[in-house]
Amino acid sequence: MQQERRMYRDLKDELLLTKEQIAARVREMGEEITRDYDGMEGELVLVGILKGAIVFFADLIREIDLPLSMDFMAISSYGSATKSSGVVRILKDLDKDIVGKHVLVVEDIIDSGLTLSFLKDNLLSRGAASLKICTLLDKPERRRVDLHVDYAGFQIPDEFVVGYGLDYAETYRNLPDIGVLRPEVYSK
Ligand code: IMP
Ligand code: MG
Repeated sequence: MQQERRMYRDLKDELLLTKEQIAARVREMGEEITRDYDGMEGELVLVGILKGAIVFFADLIREIDLPLSMDFMAISSYGSATKSSGVVRILKDLDKDIVGKHVLVVEDIIDSGLTLSFLKDNLLSRGAASLKICTLLDKPERRRVDLHVDYAGFQIPDEFVVGYGLDYAETYRNLPDIGVLRPEVYSK
């Protein structure tokens, strides 16, 4: 596709994760989640973090063989485009309350961990029966807070990645694979 080729030019030549690698791992994660929550008393709600997690979220829910509902939150973390500051603001809150429910937060990537650590405390204070975190990508080297991640798809090095939902300045979310953005693209 013409448009796709154009966007891939902004990525380093070797993709970090191909769509096939992602699909295989998402399937495994779905199976693991299914096993872990199987037979649990109470409702399971998956909370997707807009907008980055939507592609992963859409694939993951179809690999989970359990009744579940979905809800979404949008969060903005102040800071420059490629570094988060830890100051978090809720732009869109959940539609339904989560009292007594098992909440699984689905995120695209955990970097400093500040966004998720804020969100974890926030959701737990609303009376969830349990709260776990599932992320497709994890950059453990960059962690600034102690955050327990229950399900992580891939640990990746400290590089800025885009595709499969992840953006740079709202672009590249629709790439099917994940690649490293060429530094000259964001230093321009
Ligand atoms: P944290 O609060 O530092 O963990 O930031 C997590 C958020 O930063 C993610 O939800 C992404 O929106 C964004 N982010 C961190 N690293 C990357 C990256 O490599 N590519 C795209 N977005 C990223
Ligand atoms: Mg983002």
